[in-house]
Amino acid sequence: MTFKQKTFAIFLSIAAVFSAKAAEIPPYLDDSLPAELRIEDALSRMTLDEKIALIHAQSKFSTPGCPRLGIPEIWMSDGPHGVRVEFDWDEWKWAGWTNDSCTAMPALTCLAATFNPELAGRYGKVIGEEARFRKKDIILGPGVNIYRTPLSGRNFEYMGEDPVLASRMVVPYIQGVQSQGVSACLKHFALNNQEHDRDLVNVVVDERALNELYLPAFRAGVVDGGVWSVMGSYNRYKGTHCTHNDTLVNSILKGQWGFDGAFITDWGSAHDTREAALYGLDIEMGSWTNGLTWGKSNAYNNYYMAEPLKAMVRAGEIDEKYVDEKVRRVLRLCLRTNMNRARPWGSMHTDEHLALAREVSRQGIVLLKNEKRTLPLKAASARRIAVIGENAVKSLTMGGGSSELKPRTEISPLAGLTERFGADNVVFSLGYASGDPDYSRELPSPYDADSLRRAALEAARQADIVLFIGGLNKNYRQDCEGDDRLTYDLPFGQNELIADLAKVNPNIAVIIVSGNAVAMPWADKVPAIVQSWYLGSMGGAALADIISGDANPSGKLPFSIPYKLDDCAAHAFGERGYPGVDGNVYYDEGLLVGYRWHDTKRIPARFPFGHGLSYTDFKYSGLKTDRKEYSPADTITVTMRLENTGSVAGAESVQFYASQKSPRLSRPARELKAFAKTSLRPGENTEVEVRIPAAELAYFDDSQHRWVLDPDEFTIHAGSSSTDLRGKASFRIKSPNSLAIK
Ligand code: BGC
Repeated sequence: MTFKQKTFAIFLSIAAVFSAKAAEIPPYLDDSLPAELRIEDALSRMTLDEKIALIHAQSKFSTPGCPRLGIPEIWMSDGPHGVRVEFDWDEWKWAGWTNDSCTAMPALTCLAATFNPELAGRYGKVIGEEARFRKKDIILGPGVNIYRTPLSGRNFEYMGEDPVLASRMVVPYIQGVQSQGVSACLKHFALNNQEHDRDLVNVVVDERALNELYLPAFRAGVVDGGVWSVMGSYNRYKGTHCTHNDTLVNSILKGQWGFDGAFITDWGSAHDTREAALYGLDIEMGSWTNGLTWGKSNAYNNYYMAEPLKAMVRAGEIDEKYVDEKVRRVLRLCLRTNMNRARPWGSMHTDEHLALAREVSRQGIVLLKNEKRTLPLKAASARRIAVIGENAVKSLTMGGGSSELKPRTEISPLAGLTERFGADNVVFSLGYASGDPDYSRELPSPYDADSLRRAALEAARQADIVLFIGGLNKNYRQDCEGDDRLTYDLPFGQNELIADLAKVNPNIAVIIVSGNAVAMPWADKVPAIVQSWYLGSMGGAALADIISGDANPSGKLPFSIPYKLDDCAAHAFGERGYPGVDGNVYYDEGLLVGYRWHDTKRIPARFPFGHGLSYTDFKYSGLKTDRKEYSPADTITVTMRLENTGSVAGAESVQFYASQKSPRLSRPARELKAFAKTSLRPGENTEVEVRIPAAELAYFDDSQHRWVLDPDEFTIHAGSSSTDLRGKASFRIKSPNSLAIK
């Protein structure tokens, strides 16, 4: 027993006397006692069998609790955009309930594109309320794996290519969910940046990129967001699966960051009993099941952390203290969720939830290009609108893997546009067709591509304006977990179709629905391009808000859109960089991911990170810092004036990028440090202020294994995107030498 545990034991016996007298309930059930004391009490009452039961699944999405002690089952659900349908106990098969629908919120890429942390908090609260109403204790999300390649099948579930953006957005999301007594589950820890070969691939990344790019959003979720559970990833790091990885889990997550919650497998990501026992895994889910992982069904007793672990403990090969520590963490999770009598009851599919889904979509849709004032489409003059493309009608809440949802409401783009502009003014033509979704195959479309194309061209010819609504979908090898896209191009012949449509009717707006960048060889031939996302329940209504000008777009790209795949860092080093060789994927680009690569290497992106137009114009002026010199412990206050110089109200996300003049180790040209979204009426101006702790200008020195801040000159640039920089201010950081700051 450690000193801490001994102290607890003494407390426990005293508390037990008082508690028993007062309420005749055991201390572990007594809300008035400190949580850690209740945990020790519950633990002290459990047999080895009961402890072992607590740390692995009893069904696809639950663990059994401890029935004898009245410690409840833990129920989990995906995540992260809504509460998933119910599954059969043992099978990857929908249970067929009729009350398991939800509000489908916009995908996390859209949330990131709002650049609005306050919305992220409200989004998290909706997810928490619906999860609670559906009697879930853990929602399996959010995901904050960094967007490294546009081929990755799960980018749509993540928050883009920048660690500061993802960090700022994930913290309020987590706090919103957990305000409902439901645990968020931050995933997939760590380095799960591709789906291809995800079960095995070993990521070779330098310590600097790991710390500066791939870990910060996880750290923010743990340290600032106080997340109660974290999910391990399938892939490997330093040759060991991340789900039981001593460095990642014990040293970093639980050691450096002080994570006190439960560390859960991804479904089927545990591979070894000894490693699971020693290297920080707390709950094992999804092993040895059919469907998404391996063979046998209903074999929970065979889980690594079931009978095999018990046998090793009994044989003295694993000390029981490792099991106890896992049980403590599971119990801590219970006290925060299903044993918290004060938690709210939740709510489902309320008007507020739908309104928020619409608002997030409105603020997340990105206007990439808008020449000749093609958009907005004023209702008065909007006659003969040809809506062309499968994504105008396809349900895109389904598919994509574990983030699939059964929405109670889903407004398609065609329905939204028809409602807004009137059925008489809108004609629809499919244009192209994908095959049926399937988890492991690409099925061919049953339609004749040529007739679809001819009908679409005819509709375009007769229209005043064409709204092409295509992009990717959630079919296998599109935006879908389990594998990656095979090409950067749009699928199903869309590139050719868009080019042909633009020839017959140059008044065309192309709306790409995707969670990933796509090649746009037709970009110069069309006057307007909109990046839409998987928008969930209110997607079509929100899109109509933007197209009509009822809402002014304010979304900004959370990732760069390169001209071609080779312009993207992950693809600049051949197969080593992606998809990997001999089971290893080498992140040779180091820190230079996304705009850091484009800007430092001077390889322009077609649309840069942070880009997004508005129907109004903003003028930036007077950028300054409050001082000219700071010490490492100071906070830099940056101010500037923002003015809406156009004729409609709008919102602008001003981005603040930092650069260092003469760093000791080379650094990216610029790095995002802060951003602020401000709404302004026409003609209105305001002061925008952000505060940047000087310590956040540090870099990770891998020779010293720590964060370092050089005495040097730094510059803060204010930008409307990562390349559209509209003001700068320089200052010095003074410190005697390079200073280790964290
Ligand atoms: C996914 C996780 C998900 C889990 C449970 C896995 O395949 O990678 O993100 O939470 O399944 O559905």
